[in-house]
Amino acid sequence: MADPIRVAVTGAAGQIAYSAIFRLASGAVFGPDQPVQLSLLEIPPAMKVLESVAMELDDCAFPTLTGVTMTDQAEQAFDGINAALMIGSRPRGPGMERADLIRVNGPIFVGQGKALNRAASDVRVVVVGNPCNTNCLIAMSNSDVPKDRFSAMMRLDYNRAKTMLANKAQVPVTDVTNLAVWGNHSNNQYPDFENARIQGRPLSEMITDESWLKDTFVPDVQTRGAVVIKARGSSSAASGAIAALDHLLSFRQPTPAGDWFVAAVLSAGQYGVDPGLIFGYPLRVKGEGWEIVEGLTMSDWGRTKFEKVLDELRQEREVVKDLL
Ligand code: NAD
Ligand code: LMR
Repeated sequence: MADPIRVAVTGAAGQIAYSAIFRLASGAVFGPDQPVQLSLLEIPPAMKVLESVAMELDDCAFPTLTGVTMTDQAEQAFDGINAALMIGSRPRGPGMERADLIRVNGPIFVGQGKALNRAASDVRVVVVGNPCNTNCLIAMSNSDVPKDRFSAMMRLDYNRAKTMLANKAQVPVTDVTNLAVWGNHSNNQYPDFENARIQGRPLSEMITDESWLKDTFVPDVQTRGAVVIKARGSSSAASGAIAALDHLLSFRQPTPAGDWFVAAVLSAGQYGVDPGLIFGYPLRVKGEGWEIVEGLTMSDWGRTKFEKVLDELRQEREVVKDLL
């Protein structure tokens, strides 16, 4: 058997974690031959609920699960870990924007960023807690872990966009490729249909209804989180968990030839983004790391969307500058 992968999950007694943890433990994520150790972090009032999660993990008798630790101390939770799913934070409620959480959730990522210094040298950090791009910026800025190890989750947006395009074109989701989602996990994100392909051909050959793309598809992806909150009374959880695990795996596996995946990572200025922002880009795995896919083009309409979301991230950075 391989050495166990040690995965920390923060907010481990919460809704997203409840969907993610059992998949991690079952072998569904890393495979049936890869042992997994879970390091579960919560705040003190949630430790009792967390104990029930550990009981249920015991009751599943997963052959791949070789250990579970629970703590309310981030340094302990992150000691020696190979991956961190940073979920722990407040979700928004009906009528709120994700950015309304910035001063409530942002400070969490200061201390947890510092505590990540205890992680293993190969650690990968996935920030899920909202507003996730800027929370990722805060964690990265407070940590000595190499900056290319940090990413924020835009995979749920990518998965949503993929399904909407596949449904419109009446093809399986696997036929939709080369889909970028630029910028922020917010209602200004830009799901880019211009560069997307369906069955290997430009999307415009398969979906000719440009007004649907601009006036229905883009806003529907942008606002899907709020629509789920309205229907469910609380924010998306199972789909968020699946997206977090998809995201984690995309950094560990070769990217399919000719395609890319989407995550928010540190910008070095690609596509005119301010260096230092955590920006949603199309990515490919390269060696042990990743690279941003360069050379994609945008219409003036697309560039306007891109500039709007870029401006939003600049403003979010301004709001948390004391935490960086
Ligand atoms: P939840 O309220 O069910 O769970 C959050 C958990 O975090 C709670 O158990 C809480 O006790 C814990 N927590 C709070 N502060 C903590 C801290 N300092 N350290 C460790 N744990 C802490 O919420 P949820 O539905 O699981 O959502 C969690 C976060 O994920 C929210 O911010 C939500 O908006 C975000 N989210 C992001 C995406 C995305 O696509 N990026 C998708 C869905 C949800
Ligand atoms: C989502 O996109 O579903 C999450 O970010 C939760 C939210 O606040 O919308």
